[in-house]
Amino acid sequence: MSTCRALSIMPDTEEYLEIAGGCRLEGEIPISGAKNACLPIMAAALLANGISHIDNVPRLRDVFTLADVLRSLGAKVDWTGEHSLAVDASDVPCLEPDPDLVRKMRASVLVLGPLLARFGRCHLALPGGCSLGKRPIDLHLAGMERLGALTEENHEMVSVVLASGSRPVGNTVQLSFPSVGATENILMASALAEGTTIIENAAREPEIVDLADFLSAMGAIIVGAGESTITVAGARELRPARHRVIPDRIEAGTYMVATAMTAGKVSLTDVRADHLTATIEYLSATGCRITTEPDRITIEAPDVLRPVDVRTMPYPGFSTDIQPPCMSLMTKAAGESLFVEKIFERRFLASDELKRMGADIRVLDNCALVAGGFRLKGCEVNAPDIRAAAALIIAGLWADGTTRLRGLNHLYRGYEQPVRKLAALGAAIGENHPVILSRSEATGA
Ligand code: EPZ
Repeated sequence: MSTCRALSIMPDTEEYLEIAGGCRLEGEIPISGAKNACLPIMAAALLANGISHIDNVPRLRDVFTLADVLRSLGAKVDWTGEHSLAVDASDVPCLEPDPDLVRKMRASVLVLGPLLARFGRCHLALPGGCSLGKRPIDLHLAGMERLGALTEENHEMVSVVLASGSRPVGNTVQLSFPSVGATENILMASALAEGTTIIENAAREPEIVDLADFLSAMGAIIVGAGESTITVAGARELRPARHRVIPDRIEAGTYMVATAMTAGKVSLTDVRADHLTATIEYLSATGCRITTEPDRITIEAPDVLRPVDVRTMPYPGFSTDIQPPCMSLMTKAAGESLFVEKIFERRFLASDELKRMGADIRVLDNCALVAGGFRLKGCEVNAPDIRAAAALIIAGLWADGTTRLRGLNHLYRGYEQPVRKLAALGAAIGENHPVILSRSEATGA
């Protein structure tokens, strides 16, 4: 099977992607900085009176949005390089970020902890983001209350204010679920608290560790990040710091699945293989051959994949963010596979669109049964969230014919330069124009 190249013919009026199926991905792909590490670190810069520098920042829409949220507070956020930001939180006159910006994404909630810790209060519109279910913030607010805040929430807004004094007060916070965002907000608020905070049942994601590393560089004393119990000795003041964001394990996992879908062979660089253990185990079980070095992963996929069941769990379990791409992959496997989603209530949104492409997927509550052995048919599909957008592109890479994907805002919220990166691996993919392959390129004749 030859590799194919994107050929642009004519612009279209609406934003869409077109993918011609049947290309085998081959080559090398650099992984960007982690969106879900960068966002809390940008928020944490609010804790210091001065300019923090963040490197390896992915240029994607959620980062642009959070930069605007910080600017709406009065902070200065400037690009100092292709992937470097300077966040100047010397002067933050406003403690209520622009509601329209906050509603664009879930990560806006991450300004709660820093603003409470440094300025004693915050008034925030309820955050938006991917419609993966109810996505309440009760664990965030319970954590703020344990640190001495009064909280108030209605269907539009949430307010937190210190009940007394000018700093949070260290305490033990027991999370009923290892929420990533709640762990991050509590970490940031406790870093300036008076006394020591112990977070029990904390999230263990690598993004938590990266945030803790940044807070430590600012002067916080944190023990146990990455484990279920984290201890934070609050500091009276934190100083600005410089930090390089870890590689994006979800982006890496996404491109590994895309390689598996196309029976390709791809090496991922600037990646942390130790952050992808569950994904590597899963793809190896499907029959892929995966070799790893600390910062490089090579995956080579067979033409026939074995079906493998998936149960998503908090890290280090299988990531819910890799689940939608794997659902696309399992439509190709030689048999049935069961998906059990244990993190979000509505994480099977990709399945409706995959069914339009001919997939046989039966969903009941938090379970989905995927019948494999199908060659999907390219058609027009719409992305309902970030990871579903990735799943539909992956489906289009192998579908018979051409797939047209709309809803690109979701894709560009979570991935840096996905079209360029996939085209560089040989995908026939183009934005806002049809991708027509020459017969010889398409058939390899
Ligand atoms: C983070 O979301 C990530 N987002 C998500 O990635 C990721 O899927 C998720 O963690 C799980 O790993 C960012 O880091 C910006 P949670 P977060 O709090 O913090 C419930 C992507 O595509 N919950 O761990 O919102 C919640 O409803 C995104 O990059 C409460 O009930 O995830 C969910 O069912 C999607 N109350 C579960 O916990 C709360 O107060 C996990 O949520 C908080 C969460």
